[in-house]
Amino acid sequence: MSEITINLKSAIDNSYKVIIENGANQQIPAFLQKSKLGQKYAIITDSKVEKLYGASFARFLKKNGIECELFSFPDGETSKNLKTIENLAAQMIEKSFDRKDAILSLGGGVVGDMSGFLSSIFMRGISYIQIPTTLLAMVDASLGGKTGVDMSEGKNLLGTFHQPKAVFIDPTYLKTLSPKQIRNGLAEVIKCSIIKDEKLFKFIEDNLSKILSLEPKTLNKIIEQTVKIKAKIVEKDEKENEERMLLNYGHTFGHAIEKASEFKLLHGYAISIGMVLANKMAVEKKLLDKKSAERIKKLITKAELPIATMKIPTLKDLASDKKKSAKVINFILPTKIGKAVIYPEKCL
Ligand SMILES: NC(=O)c1ccc[n+]([C@@H]2O[C@H](COP(=O)([O-])OP(=O)(O)OC[C@H]3O[C@@H](n4cnc5c(N)ncnc54)[C@H](O)[C@@H]3O)[C@@H](O)[C@H]2O)c1
Ligand SMILES: [Zn+2]
Repeated sequence: MSEITINLKSAIDNSYKVIIENGANQQIPAFLQKSKLGQKYAIITDSKVEKLYGASFARFLKKNGIECELFSFPDGETSKNLKTIENLAAQMIEKSFDRKDAILSLGGGVVGDMSGFLSSIFMRGISYIQIPTTLLAMVDASLGGKTGVDMSEGKNLLGTFHQPKAVFIDPTYLKTLSPKQIRNGLAEVIKCSIIKDEKLFKFIEDNLSKILSLEPKTLNKIIEQTVKIKAKIVEKDEKENEERMLLNYGHTFGHAIEKASEFKLLHGYAISIGMVLANKMAVEKKLLDKKSAERIKKLITKAELPIATMKIPTLKDLASDKKKSAKVINFILPTKIGKAVIYPEKCL
């Protein structure tokens, strides 16, 4: 008789480093030479980032002895689908990429989710690193290993958990990002501060204009703090159970608002309204004091993010959200600035 153990938990070490520094991408050649993630590298990016940074990044890697090819697709959420994945895979195969190679994801959350997904299935899985270029991707999408694509039936319906081997955050990429996209990412920073870090919230209150004008020290500080918060949450809960659900603060209402706008409203804008609605609920349930709710509303307004919508989603609208569990919706409600709880609410 033979006894076989498939010990999945301890067999895989998914740890990785997140480097946050102006010019962090300069460290990538040395990292790749040392870690030997691949024999050659597919840089995956979108059309906009390709023009701004892709071609020069590929030249820089080649100059430093890294064999690589650049692959891109039209920018925007409408590209985040299986067809684009298939096209990218076909181009990689044509250039003789195989399971000994790896992917470098250079771009916003769309590029990150797609490259992560492609790396998890290409030749049954290869390594990848994240090089986020939007604020939203720096503080959220590039961390935690959630990958995926959209379907016509809804967003992020196909995907995997596949952790990157490293994340290189270079905030200087943000210089070319539109103020609207900066605010979009800032909404997630504000969200993290409300659920976990009162000091960060206060820091944003005191330094908002510096943040919005991309003053390097201030910007780097809020990125670093938010990455720390997300890292701690993901560490505790890699596959989204209890702890990771806290990150959904503002998202239960936010997703419904985003959907109702037919995705014309940016995600961060929708969750800003979602946070205000969640706070209202928290005040009604006597979990949160009115003063804190007002303070949050004031910061969101000052950041020029929205606080209201014409059509407030009902519980029924919310029940059609993909994150519902049976007849109960798990709201994330703050109990004070810096702390939030999971609040299950019956929706029948
Ligand atoms: N995996 C996760 O945990 C997670 C978390 C949050 C969001 N997401 C996903 O992230 C996506 C949204 O990401 P996003 O907001 O970064 O959008 P995005 O990737 O579409 O980027 C927004 C726009 O900015 C452009 N851009 C990127 N970097 C730039 C730069 N430095 N300068 C100028 N323009 C630049 C892009 O080309 C695009 O047009 C969604 O698909 C969402 O589902 C994933
Ligand atoms: Zn979000």
